[in-house]
Amino acid sequence: MIIRDFDTERDKEAVYRIWREVGWLEKGKEAQMDCGLYAGTALVAEVNGEAECLVLSTPGTIRYLEEDLSLDAVTGVTTSYVARKQGLAGRVLARSIATRAKEGMLVSGLGMFDQGYYNQLGFGTGGYEHHLRFDPAQLTVSTKARIPRRLTTKDVETIHEVRLKRMRSHGSCNLLPSAATQADVENSENGFGLGYFDGEAGELTHCFWGSAKGEHGPYSIYLLLFQTPAQFLELMALLKNLGDQVHIVGMHEPANIQIQDLLKQPMKHRRVTQKSELEVGSWSAAYWQMRINDLAGCLAKTHLESKSVRFQLHLTDPIEKFLDTEETWRGTSGDYIVTLGEESEAVRGTDSSLPVLTATVNAFTRMWLGVRPATGLAITDTLSGSPELLATLDKVLRLPSPRPDWDF
Ligand SMILES: CC(C)(COP(=O)(O)OP(=O)(O)OC[C@H]1O[C@@H](n2cnc3c(N)ncnc32)[C@H](O)[C@@H]1OP(=O)(O)O)[C@@H](O)C(=O)NCCC(=O)NCCS
Repeated sequence: MIIRDFDTERDKEAVYRIWREVGWLEKGKEAQMDCGLYAGTALVAEVNGEAECLVLSTPGTIRYLEEDLSLDAVTGVTTSYVARKQGLAGRVLARSIATRAKEGMLVSGLGMFDQGYYNQLGFGTGGYEHHLRFDPAQLTVSTKARIPRRLTTKDVETIHEVRLKRMRSHGSCNLLPSAATQADVENSENGFGLGYFDGEAGELTHCFWGSAKGEHGPYSIYLLLFQTPAQFLELMALLKNLGDQVHIVGMHEPANIQIQDLLKQPMKHRRVTQKSELEVGSWSAAYWQMRINDLAGCLAKTHLESKSVRFQLHLTDPIEKFLDTEETWRGTSGDYIVTLGEESEAVRGTDSSLPVLTATVNAFTRMWLGVRPATGLAITDTLSGSPELLATLDKVLRLPSPRPDWDF
């Protein structure tokens, strides 16, 4: 088995076949896959002379409070029918992460098909994301929406630019190449967009992009992009204007906003529509995962508004067993002296006078990001320390919920 870079001429038909076999690609829609294929780097594993496993990665950033850290966004991990359970996906992904880590990507992230698989490579599960379905006619926003402009798939570059500039919060991710937004826009069935061009030079400032279904919906909003609270309210008012015709809109709840605050009689409508095709309500799922690739690099960008804590960290990183022996990047395992506070750092070494925290990189990443506090992770994940140290870590790492706000 050979792991190597994807080669368009040699591998294109083989990787289309992989995606057809896993059900991600319909015949005739190859251009959609190309967006992902060329949005970053692609690695394949070759079996009997053909590419049978494909791992895609796109360069991005993840926000940690006010800082942006480099992100390796893993956008696809697939193995064909003939090569399953040979350890290919694990090894190709480990190689991809190692290469990106050596290039300076501090964090890797992905959307998981299920919990457990990527945990083997050091990934820790993120927090719950809320998905809402509501009747836009029930929105209570008092803002009056002005007449918007239509957006089409030809506006991808413009949409991508405004997506990168959108209002962001802790944990939010940006995928940098516009092909990443193109993949989202082109993959939406009956896609449509509406937006406002209020920029000084007439550029797009706020918009949404979604999928229409039939006359009454459900419509799905995939991108809701705004830079100010007033722009957000105008987009909600615009959705409300569709409410005479469209009965259901589904979307992820934006960070820091509780959509239910803007809905009239949400509980009544939940009861009335229960089990119907037009059911309203909210559902939650924790489906994204992250891992730290460079602890010292991540902590150098960690500035907390709290008192500081210093401890001895014994970190284990399970990715090591998926890496080839000649690979120089071996993950993050080791002993570190860690300081968390306004200025944070991780230095390799030991100091027996310090309290000890023992953790996998999976659990440490979750604690560092603020998915769950140390005391909670000590119950359900692989992280342990004295009750005093865990309680101090809870206080020092009081962070907003991390919200990627970009599905990949
Ligand atoms: C997921 C997928 C990439 C795995 O490919 P693969 O090359 O067969 O994977 P590997 O050989 O590296 O690993 C398979 C092992 O992981 C195990 N595994 C699978 N899901 C797991 C889970 N949720 N938790 C723990 N282990 C899991 C399997 O049982 C198997 O173990 P075994 O070999 O001891 O039986 C492949 O099944 C696939 O392409 N699926 C469809 C597309 C998809 O969902 N991709 C992932 C997108 S996030």
